[in-house]
Amino acid sequence: MGFVTFIGAGPGAADLITVRGARVLAHADVVLFDALTDPALRATAPDARWIDVGKRGFARSADQTAINALLVRMAREHAQVVRLKGGDPSLFGRLEEELQALAAAGIECEVVPGITAALAAAAAAQRPLTRRGRGRSVSLVTAMTRQGELQATRCADSEVFYMAGKQLGALPRRLLAQGWAADTAVCVVSRAGWPDQLISQHHIHTLPQATMLHAGHPTVVTVGTAAEAVAVAAPAMPMGPNPRAAGVATVSS
Ligand SMILES: C[S@@+](CC[C@H](N)C(=O)[O-])C[C@H]1O[C@@H](n2cnc3c(N)ncnc32)[C@H](O)[C@@H]1O
Repeated sequence: MGFVTFIGAGPGAADLITVRGARVLAHADVVLFDALTDPALRATAPDARWIDVGKRGFARSADQTAINALLVRMAREHAQVVRLKGGDPSLFGRLEEELQALAAAGIECEVVPGITAALAAAAAAQRPLTRRGRGRSVSLVTAMTRQGELQATRCADSEVFYMAGKQLGALPRRLLAQGWAADTAVCVVSRAGWPDQLISQHHIHTLPQATMLHAGHPTVVTVGTAAEAVAVAAPAMPMGPNPRAAGVATVSS
C-alpha cells in the first residue's frame, strides 16, 4: 500500500510551490495533477508518471468519483503518490472527498500546504489583506454556487471571491444586496503569479467592465478594505520603469 501526499502547487509559476512540496514531489512515482498547476513542475519529477485529472469550474467536469477511484488505485500500485493541486489543497479543491476516499480504503496520507490564489493576488496587487485598525477580517468565498447566490449578508471587512471570472457581471447586484456600498473598492486579479497576470481596479458599480479584461482566466475578486490601493506619500525618488514589473498589466476603472 502506497502513501499519498497532497501538495499545494501554489497559484502559478513553478517556483511558488513550497520547498517541502518540491522535495516530496521530487520523490513521486506518480503525480495526479490539476489544470491550474504549472507544467514546468514536471521537471521536478521527470521520471514520475504524470496524470492530468484537471477540471475547470462546472464546465468541463472530470467526475470527482472517478478521480477518487484513480487516486486509490494509484496508491495501491505505487509507493509514493502525489496529488498536486493548484493553490492550497484545502481551499475549493475537493480535498474533503479525496481524504474520505483514502480513509475508506485505509491509505495513509499527508497534506503539504500551498500559496492560495487570494494570497498571490494580494501580493501581485500589493494590497494587504488586513489593514491595521480597519481591515480586521477577510473571508474566502466561492462566487460560484450551484444555487448561484451569495449568503445574505457580508461577513468580513474584505471578501475574496474565487471562481469569479464568469460572475463579474452578476456580482454587483449580489454584493449590493449584501449591503456593500456601490463605491466600495474592488480589485480583480487573474493569473496571479504568472508572467501574464492582470490586475484591474474598480468599484462595485463598475465591476462588469472587468468581464472582458479577465475572460477565460482564473480570477479572484477582492472586495472591501483589502481592495484599496495603499496610500503613498509623494515619492522620495524620481519614478521610473520598474524592471520587476515587466509582464504585469494594471487597469483601473
Ligand atoms: C477550484 S479553485 C482552486 C483554488 C485553489 N485551491 C487555491 O487555493 O487557490 C479555482 C479558482 O481559484 C482561483 N485561482 C486559482 N489560481 C489563480 C490565479 N493564478 N490567479 C487568480 N485566481 C486564481 C480562481 O478563482 C479559480 O477559479
